[in-house]
Amino acid sequence: LIIVLDFGGQYNQLIARRVREANVYCEVLSYDTPIDEIKAKKPKGIIFTGGPSVVYEENAPMVEKEIFELGIPVLGICYGSQLMGHVLGGKVAKADQREYGKTDMNVRVDNPLFKDVEENTVCWMSHTYYISEPPEGFEVIATTGTCPVAAMADTKRNLYGVQFHPEVMHTPKGTQMLKNFLYDVCGCKGDWIMKDFAEESIKKLKEKIGDKKVLCALSGGVDSSVAAVLIHKAVGKQLTCIFVDHGLLRKNEGDEVEKVFREQFDMNLIRVNAQDRFLDKLAGVTDPESKRKIIGEEFIRVFEAEAKKIGTVDFLVQGTIYPDVIESGTKNAAVIKSHHNVGGLPDYVDFKEIIEPLRDLFKDEVRNLGRALGIPEFLVARQPFPGPGLAIRIIGDITKEKIVILQEADYIYREEIANAGLDKEIGQYFAVLTNLRSVGVMGDERTYSYTVALRGVSTTDFMTADWARIPHDVLAKISNRIVNEVNHVNRIVYDITSKPPATIEWE
Ligand code: XMP
Repeated sequence: LIIVLDFGGQYNQLIARRVREANVYCEVLSYDTPIDEIKAKKPKGIIFTGGPSVVYEENAPMVEKEIFELGIPVLGICYGSQLMGHVLGGKVAKADQREYGKTDMNVRVDNPLFKDVEENTVCWMSHTYYISEPPEGFEVIATTGTCPVAAMADTKRNLYGVQFHPEVMHTPKGTQMLKNFLYDVCGCKGDWIMKDFAEESIKKLKEKIGDKKVLCALSGGVDSSVAAVLIHKAVGKQLTCIFVDHGLLRKNEGDEVEKVFREQFDMNLIRVNAQDRFLDKLAGVTDPESKRKIIGEEFIRVFEAEAKKIGTVDFLVQGTIYPDVIESGTKNAAVIKSHHNVGGLPDYVDFKEIIEPLRDLFKDEVRNLGRALGIPEFLVARQPFPGPGLAIRIIGDITKEKIVILQEADYIYREEIANAGLDKEIGQYFAVLTNLRSVGVMGDERTYSYTVALRGVSTTDFMTADWARIPHDVLAKISNRIVNEVNHVNRIVYDITSKPPATIEWE
């Protein structure tokens, strides 16, 4: 076990992720965790994260000196390093200028931290304060043009401090340095895997939940699915999942989701088929934001009605993952689209506490956890699908007939992308039913039918995206199949705009 002590820096979970990637188990704890609690966990090493504070400030987060006397290796990063310097009697000073970005660095390759790192390497800096004088017993093991102590070490006591950020990819050898610390300094074996995380989480959830009741809103998306299975493995039928089918899912999706959770996992699952209810509310509505709002509210109402039947529960599960935690932290961003998830539920359901078992994980880690839990690949690898579903992919008003047209076209699109082996490569791809009709000719007849737009984007964060360069012959095949196999469609276009200025979805 490695403990990551959190001092409020922006890359904290990234550090934890790098440790997990090195196949070492870690826990992130707040900097003010009592030292006895830390000792009791018997960690093989401790990493101090960065943070926005300055060690001299009155309320700067501190650690007790004793933490350095436990015989446990410590690696301080950025603020963590300054803190180590400060507490052990070194000096921290303010630079005239902030050092920021990729920086050339000279390292002492004979130091264990820099094993397999070249003498001249590159690191990522982001700081104003720096260690001007290392504490007694420390030697300087790296410098940059402006930073006299880019890294310091007391190899006898196994204490290391780095001013730069080894956890970000802009420090190309950062992963190597972290591994050096974990394997060579702390003696970790690197044999931890996601399966262990699953077991560990299940054990903790069992303890926390005991014999109490848990409720989960299942959407069939990756996050809520993995969260639900994790909790089901911990407490079985004490968990009830409510799956609201609003009728705006992709073709067959509702049945597929139901099958996995009912048959494979034998879960307590309530599927509410509410298609007509949603369609009634949406009748004649064309404005994208109104569609979102109606669906969000109706979703809550349907869920609430089901939850009432169950009565008070002790816990409500949320599939929050780490990027959600970060995103909800930015309160000042303009509302481009009001993304409705189940985030609105807590006010409407009678429960005592929220559990968020995936809160510390990144998306790809959630997928791996899902695999470790035995969730089928089609669910685990599923591309993101918006809460309002096909409602925001049907431009204009929504009817049953339009939903079927879009489901069929989208199904063919996805099938052919998979056939071409591109399904893992393209971040998100789907069909849109434009509200546009145009003239065509089929057989010898004039047609006046819908245009379907195909959207495909490559992206890693969904904040920005580029349109996917799908080979023309693949597009040709998709186009042919859709106009031949789906009624009421006679024209296909491919969307070649990036985000920004467009967004990924059309509404
Ligand atoms: P945009 O269209 O804003 O989409 O570029 C970015 C990502 O968010 C998804 N999306 C939504 N997800 N509720 C959701 O849960 C929504 O209302 C919603 N709108 C967009 C979109 O599919 C893409 O992955």
